[in-house]
Amino acid sequence: MSTEQQSGQQTAEKVAPATGKLGVMVVGLGAVATTMIAGVEAVRRGLAKPIGSLTQMGTIRLGKRTDSKSPLIKDFVPLADLNDVVFTGWDIFEDNVYESAAHAAVLDKETLLQLKPYLENIKPLTAVFDQYYVKRLHGTHVKKGKNKRDLADQVRADIQAFRKTVDRVVVIWAGSTEIFLEPSAVHQSIEAFEKGLETNDPGIAPSQIYAYAALSEGVPFANGAPNLTVDIPAMVELSKRNAAPICGKDFKTGQTFMKTVLAPAFKARMLGVSGWFSTNILGNRDGEVLDEPQSFKTKEESKLGSLEYIFQPELYPDLYNHIYHKIRINYYPPRGDEKEAWDNIDIFGWLGYPMQLKVNFLCRDSILAAPIALDLVLFLDLAKRTPDLRSIGIQEWLSFYLKSPQAAAGLYPEHDLFIQSMKLKNTLRHIMGQDLITHLGLDYYD
Ligand SMILES: NC(=O)c1ccc[n+]([C@@H]2O[C@H](COP(=O)([O-])OP(=O)(O)OC[C@H]3O[C@@H](n4cnc5c(N)ncnc54)[C@H](O)[C@@H]3O)[C@@H](O)[C@H]2O)c1
Repeated sequence: MSTEQQSGQQTAEKVAPATGKLGVMVVGLGAVATTMIAGVEAVRRGLAKPIGSLTQMGTIRLGKRTDSKSPLIKDFVPLADLNDVVFTGWDIFEDNVYESAAHAAVLDKETLLQLKPYLENIKPLTAVFDQYYVKRLHGTHVKKGKNKRDLADQVRADIQAFRKTVDRVVVIWAGSTEIFLEPSAVHQSIEAFEKGLETNDPGIAPSQIYAYAALSEGVPFANGAPNLTVDIPAMVELSKRNAAPICGKDFKTGQTFMKTVLAPAFKARMLGVSGWFSTNILGNRDGEVLDEPQSFKTKEESKLGSLEYIFQPELYPDLYNHIYHKIRINYYPPRGDEKEAWDNIDIFGWLGYPMQLKVNFLCRDSILAAPIALDLVLFLDLAKRTPDLRSIGIQEWLSFYLKSPQAAAGLYPEHDLFIQSMKLKNTLRHIMGQDLITHLGLDYYD
């Protein structure tokens, strides 16, 4: 072992193999979900490469730099093979995945036509929906129940039925952004939450009904939206109790991805920041939902958090105490899914002299989000099969993918993309009993 490494946990219990089929249940078969599903099928047929997916294309260094040992991640840890992944999902509209993908217009018509027979076979189950939580949508394909408990039981029945056809299940929320909800008494324990389901407590949003159902079934749950969902004590408790892993929320795709790259760079060089103005135009259904102030508020909170945590103004008051941070999202239909984001960053250097940096990211929202959704699903399934991880609740090592990472009570979340990436890879080394990499490396100079 070199000084660049640290002894791996020799005691790590073995990870169970990924035998059989992995069933992926997606809540919300919209732009992100259909781009992921169609993309996985295109990759399976050899029509395209899984670009952007760490689980499919990433490697992991093992041992010393001189060992030249960097296997593919998917060959190092036992991940479900894409050929073993089976999709289903819920939506408030009846469109099958082909129709919904055509509507989202992320992938071109020719690609979708090639995949049509497969995609049109995936039809949504009826959804749990209440317009109070997503004002801009009028769902028609929805479950009816006498109370929220009844609806949760119906989702559990959906999961149980699907589980009969596959070997393992993961649920991921790729549904719309709900209105901003603050944690309240109903969220503080499993008992309070279950009582709230009976009494239709307004603090329980549809996303939480799905999450409760999944975790009650011992099924891992990921949240691609900024909704409160599992970021409450009741869900953390349920996740631990039923060995059903959870992680943070809101896919870290475009602007926040760039923020969590640039902010650590400024901080590493002790450059100050006085302002960060971020604006976006987008014209997909997500953009339409976010045009509504209460859903925007949920997204805004999620996007705002990263800078505060990365800059640690309490440690660096001279550099980061007075940042004016503003985020705007504008619904602009002509752009569809091809979002454009501008960032103006006012920084200052030696002796306080000001400088500016402009970032103009012409991205494709769902093209960035789809591989993240896939990786989260595959890694949560891995966590469920890993004795060291399955019962700890929050999988902080998956923060890498999320705008709002979740951490244990009393811990601040880690937003720096490079720390997140190191944490993820060291977690993989740890569960496979390999030495961790610390990047010290003095022994190369002995
Ligand atoms: N695309 C990105 O880069 C990105 C990044 C971060 C987060 N997100 C979030 O991911 C989510 C999905 O984004 P999208 O672009 O696919 O949006 P979308 O509007 O295309 O798809 C959302 C789908 O969810 C469905 N839905 C809404 N409420 C539902 C419910 N209660 N049950 C079942 N289905 C429901 C809608 O009918 C729709 O089909 C949004 O919350 C978005 O904010 C997207």
